[in-house]
Amino acid sequence: MTKKGKTTPIKGWPERRNPAAPLATNKHLLKWVEKMARLTKPARIHWVSGSEEENEALLGQMTASGTLTKLNEELWPGCYYARSDASDVARVEDRTFICSLSKDSAGPTNNWEDPFQMRRKLKSLFSGCMTGRTMYVLAFSMGPVGSPMSRIGVELTDSPYVVVNMRIMARIGVHVFAEIDKDYQRVVPCMHSVGMPLARGKKDVPWPCNQEKYIVHFPETREIWSYGSGYGGNALLGKKCFALRIASNIARDEGWMAEHMLILGVEDPKGEKTYVAAAFPSACGKTNFAMLIPPESFKGWKVWTVGDDIAWIKPDANGRLRAINPEAGFFGVAPGTSIKTNPNAMKSLAKNSIFTNVALTPEGGVWWEGMTDTPPESCIDWQGRPWTPAIAKETGAKAAHPNARFTAPASQCPTIDPAWENPEGVPISAIIFGGRRPTTMPLVFQAFNWSAGVYIGATMGSETTAAAAGATGKVRRDPMAMLPFCGYHMGDYFRHWIKMQRNLTESPRIFHVNWFRRGPDGGFLWPGYSENMRVLKWIVDRVRGRALARETPIGWVPHYEDLYWKGLKFSAAQFDELQRFDREDWRREVIGHEELFLDLHDHLPPEMIYERELLICRL
Ligand code: GTP
Ligand code: SPV
Ligand code: MN
Repeated sequence: MTKKGKTTPIKGWPERRNPAAPLATNKHLLKWVEKMARLTKPARIHWVSGSEEENEALLGQMTASGTLTKLNEELWPGCYYARSDASDVARVEDRTFICSLSKDSAGPTNNWEDPFQMRRKLKSLFSGCMTGRTMYVLAFSMGPVGSPMSRIGVELTDSPYVVVNMRIMARIGVHVFAEIDKDYQRVVPCMHSVGMPLARGKKDVPWPCNQEKYIVHFPETREIWSYGSGYGGNALLGKKCFALRIASNIARDEGWMAEHMLILGVEDPKGEKTYVAAAFPSACGKTNFAMLIPPESFKGWKVWTVGDDIAWIKPDANGRLRAINPEAGFFGVAPGTSIKTNPNAMKSLAKNSIFTNVALTPEGGVWWEGMTDTPPESCIDWQGRPWTPAIAKETGAKAAHPNARFTAPASQCPTIDPAWENPEGVPISAIIFGGRRPTTMPLVFQAFNWSAGVYIGATMGSETTAAAAGATGKVRRDPMAMLPFCGYHMGDYFRHWIKMQRNLTESPRIFHVNWFRRGPDGGFLWPGYSENMRVLKWIVDRVRGRALARETPIGWVPHYEDLYWKGLKFSAAQFDELQRFDREDWRREVIGHEELFLDLHDHLPPEMIYERELLICRL
């Protein structure tokens, strides 16, 4: 297989004859693995070394069993294709539980179950659930191995698909076991099963899963139990379950932040770099923004990618916030990704990647809606059915599922920041919030100060997307893009945000953006994608004290002249429409804030109440 980048944990590691032999000596880990094996009754145990040979063997085995299809090596070197079960295509928010000791700690935005009852339920679900399968012991590090900001987990899973995806998304294998042997203290145990035991002689299916799904978190004991799904955030437990839901609990206790944010660095023509973090809800543009290529007219400006989904942010010794990307890969939305909209993503996923629920072309390549202007004449859709443009026209059938994803190594991104694996993280100068808002929200505005900014994040709204099961296109409150990911009471989370600033000598400036405002004809008012650089430049210039702004009831906004327009025909009238502040819309907006606050009221920090009052006064 082709040479990989820095994320490959071990090259030339001699393949072990006996994968059942433990790769760690820590007795707590060994005991736990043994106990879980007794519960789940796998046919065999495989300690995942992370070696290339092992990866090849797993990919080969899944290709033979029909879970994966190897893509045409000429067109897509080292790439594989998977189709999930049609019922297992996205995160399941209504099956996601925060089982804290008290219901009040989980808060009204999370599903809560009594932890003792939930443990009983899980025990019965996991009892014998790995029969006939292999249990993989997968040690992973979120963050570079050895970084003081990194955290370790061990996922026990009966899904080899999870193993090969986690190998891209996190640092895994022997180096991580070695860290565990040094210090077991902070290992987060993660149990995962697809929930489909294989009775003797029973034939497996390409995508085993169970109609009954449980994605369970025990915040006090820092444990994750996931049952019934093999997909994305439900199964790659380092991602949303650990790096957000459990990590948000750890971060609150330890004085740092675990956020659903991309991290990028803007380099100006003088070579000065400004790092920003941005929280947009699922499928609202983080990957695209993180990999932005400035329009040609931005001579000397460059955007560098640190992360596209999760940021762990911590004050350093000098009182500045620094962020790491705890992940090692991108699990990105495929539809809409193209050489035109996101060339960096296309280059990242060109090799050594795994595609799930996209369409398969006759040449052994992949395709999805928006990848090219002209669709292939025919292909096999994400459900394995023949698909042609004519069929699509007649039935509306999509070739790729709207939440189809690619799993690609971050090291393959052409704009990956040289500091992306810096164990100390990168300094954060601005935080950007943004959602999908067809109305009300202007293209950009800046918060008056930190607490006003926290209010803007806390009251953020966005249309629901295909990243989660359920209806799409409905505006819901999604505080800090963390509604599905905050592992404790949302009101306490706002308080934590407020408190964070007290330890800072310099706080990041806070902004709100909306690439998705629509005009009377229903179309987007803003071209988006690389043109978002115009907004990003203003943000950086504001942070650096170089750009002007005008005060409005909701915050500071740019005048038309404050944005750099060279290379784009966009009139002052168009800009005014995009930035329009409508008092009636905002009255409704504040009522929306109020609905969220009613649910959270007994945990809301006073700052949220005062900020709301001030906003109402200004309206
Ligand atoms: P998750 O991985 O689910 O957390 O999503 P994400 O926030 O990384 O979203 P992503 O960048 O993958 O974008 C999701 C969808 O939004 C894709 O279909 C994009 O084409 C679309 N999109 C991204 N940026 C823009 C933009 O600036 N304007 C418009 N109109 N659409 C955009
Ligand atoms: C999201 O839904 O925000 C994702 C995809 O990034 S998943 O890993 O499925 O959570
Ligand atoms: Mn995400």
